[in-house]
Amino acid sequence: MKRIKLQVPATTANLGPGFDSLGLALGLYNVLEVEERAGEGLHIDIRGEGEETLPRDETNVVAVALRRVYERCGRPCPGLRIRQDNRIPLTRGLGSSAAARVGGLAAGNYLAGANLSATELLTLATELEGHPDNVVPALVGGFTVSILHEGQVAYLRTEPPAALKAILAVPDFELSTELARSVLPKTYSRAEAVYNLGHAALVVACLLKGEFDLLPMAMEDRLHQPYRLPLIPGGPDVFRAAREAGALGAAISGAGPALLALAVDHVEEIRAAMQSAWESQGVVCQVHQVDVDTTGVQVLEQE
Ligand code: HSE
Repeated sequence: MKRIKLQVPATTANLGPGFDSLGLALGLYNVLEVEERAGEGLHIDIRGEGEETLPRDETNVVAVALRRVYERCGRPCPGLRIRQDNRIPLTRGLGSSAAARVGGLAAGNYLAGANLSATELLTLATELEGHPDNVVPALVGGFTVSILHEGQVAYLRTEPPAALKAILAVPDFELSTELARSVLPKTYSRAEAVYNLGHAALVVACLLKGEFDLLPMAMEDRLHQPYRLPLIPGGPDVFRAAREAGALGAAISGAGPALLALAVDHVEEIRAAMQSAWESQGVVCQVHQVDVDTTGVQVLEQE
């Protein structure tokens, strides 16, 4: 019977204007172990984040992703033992569902002998997730630009300059992606579309060139943040505090409510300023510098 143990990174999506397209993998990991057990049903053990709340039946996101790979390669799904050691906080905009889906698909790819390419796995992951910007960096690591083109994911991956640091402020309240997407307008004006196209392109150019002077301006957004910030009490103050302390840009991490600041210098000042801005609004939060992950899914053991 085959067994695989792997780790999957957290991810931050959008980076401001790059809605549903830009993503960055972070050095914070869920560990997933899956074993085929012929003749048994589904057994799921969950430790850490979500151990009280995540389902342990067929609706579990990892189990759904695993089953999807067996279906895709026409093999009956065997009994499976799944163990999730979750470190990525749930429903905060840090890609916990993307990590679960990508982990399940990558484990299924090995166990079912499906031999799916990264693009095929990411297209399946995006069908399950709805957008590619978290699942792509979760699988391949680094800074990624992804699109859906005629039903297929296409992406390019790079590594951001090592000098660039990510500071994440994670509040103790949750915000579901579903709610955070439901408040967005159905249509936008040409001016808003042009604003975001230019800004997202400039974020990519800044990261590729390693020139950060324009990054604070480039990370401004008109597609989602203005509608989501009202769902994040104290969010505007935390942004302001980060910028005043020297951040090169600040954005809602994915759909929020976690907030991301990028910086080269003054990391400790930015961390402390974000923490005290949120705490002064009565929000309990954890703020830390996190490394960029450049590996994506990493197999730890397999047999
Ligand atoms: N791009 C998605 C959104 C990320 O902003 O809704 C969700 O994690």
